Amino acid sequence: MWRDLKGMAEKARSRGIASLFGDGRAAAFSVNADGLLLDYSKTTINADARAALIALSETRGLPERREAMFTGEPINETEGRAVLHTALRNLAGRAIKVDGRDVMPGVLDTLARMKSFAGLVRSGAYRGAGGAFTDVVNIGIGGSHLGPEMAVRALAPYADGPRCHFVSNVDGADISDTLARLDPARTLILVASKTFTTTETMTNAATAHKWLLGAVADPGAHFVALSTAERKAAEWGIDASRVFGFEDWVGGRYSIWGPIGLSLMIAIGPDGFIDFLRGAEAMDLHFRDAPPTENMPVMLSLVGLWHSHACGYATRAVLPYDQRLGRLPAYLQQLEMESNGKGVALGGRSLGYASGPVVWGEPGTNGQHAFYQLIHQGTAVVPCEFLVAARGHEPDLAHQHALLVANCLAQSEALMQGRDLETARELMRNAGYRGAELERQARHRVFPGARPSTTLMYDLLTPFRLGQIIALYEHRVFVEGVILGINSFDQWGVELGKELAKALQPVLDGTVPLDEKDGSTRQLITFVQSKRG
Ligand code: F6P
Repeated sequence: MWRDLKGMAEKARSRGIASLFGDGRAAAFSVNADGLLLDYSKTTINADARAALIALSETRGLPERREAMFTGEPINETEGRAVLHTALRNLAGRAIKVDGRDVMPGVLDTLARMKSFAGLVRSGAYRGAGGAFTDVVNIGIGGSHLGPEMAVRALAPYADGPRCHFVSNVDGADISDTLARLDPARTLILVASKTFTTTETMTNAATAHKWLLGAVADPGAHFVALSTAERKAAEWGIDASRVFGFEDWVGGRYSIWGPIGLSLMIAIGPDGFIDFLRGAEAMDLHFRDAPPTENMPVMLSLVGLWHSHACGYATRAVLPYDQRLGRLPAYLQQLEMESNGKGVALGGRSLGYASGPVVWGEPGTNGQHAFYQLIHQGTAVVPCEFLVAARGHEPDLAHQHALLVANCLAQSEALMQGRDLETARELMRNAGYRGAELERQARHRVFPGARPSTTLMYDLLTPFRLGQIIALYEHRVFVEGVILGINSFDQWGVELGKELAKALQPVLDGTVPLDEKDGSTRQLITFVQSKRG
């Protein structure tokens, strides 16, 4: 089937994109879902390619796998776990059973505890040694960091609680720069770690504890734990009333919807957080029920696979024309690349084709003045995924929002239309060039065009809308994983580096000899040791 799709893509390449537009293409190659519009008409996909992609998804068992995920079957087969982040936003409370037990009472109970605690922190009823908390520091990494950091920044217009800060890197500069600005007596520390063992997080948590120890009588009262390892959190000394647990069927990069989202809830309030969950719940219902051509996660995934596996484009750029979505590309990097960056299929055989694509990006218009040069004229084709709101949150600056939208639309138009040599020659002729110099200058001003892009549009970036968008991407990654035959829910590829880092620590300290290391590693360690003295 991939061979057929590759053949179709080859033919599509010669057709281009602009020539496809006739009556109704824009609407026919778009999907609507509860106020979101995904326009994928500026791609080379036509009706035949779409039908082939949908057939592929069905052959790969997408409808069955999707049902298995929503109903709590252990589809994370290498870890023997269900995949139920959707339960965290199942506000209707529909029963979902894992090993015969309904998980929803536990989920709703934790949500109620989070709401109550966030309310106490926001009102100042739960306070620090120096009074109501003015600042909250979330210490976590990967999925225990990127989601809340991205969402708190995205929903800044709704934030009316204590300021939230995020520390992730084991580099002491991160925590040091963050704490330097804060008053320990009025700072609440959230230790966010699914496992409560991650070196970076536990090291930073210990540093924060030391910082508080010198400043307040009861540092423990300034700590909260967000983890599946409730016993470890208790051993660390955090009172059970401030431990918010979740189950191992919530993957780290899918965990923003539960306790790991506590910083977001404290920032925007429990009602805003519930709206965020509602958006995700709406996307879940849509994903479960809508037929393929009207199903946004399915179509977004198929468009992505068309580009990565049929056309062979190795990367994909996520380009939010929304400054507050500045961390979305980093969030999606983990979601996509930790989920589908695998070389082995579910059954254990080598994949035999490319894994999920490399994802990167930066908000527009900033990226336009940096790397868009390559996107427009470079030799590698980079499918672009634009996101933009119809309205901004700054009514006084509506003219700036209009400029932002115009830039976003102009980019997708420019990528598709390009500029041919004849038009470039004309431009240069009008600029006064003649002869060989005209020809030389004109060639630099040609844009190949026919470069694909999608645009995701929405009215305003509200908590509901953000929830919907994040759930859209989660399901897109799931569909992609099903079609590629990958387990999207483990991450064994991060383990080897962790093991070696642990083993290297005593070598760096000089307590274990260098001998067994390769020449390069020995040289680098010797350099560090010589500088440390
Ligand atoms: O090392 C990768 C990883 O396990 C991610 O999958 C996870 O989101 C991150 O580390 C943090 O893990 P934890 O929440 O257990 O500290």
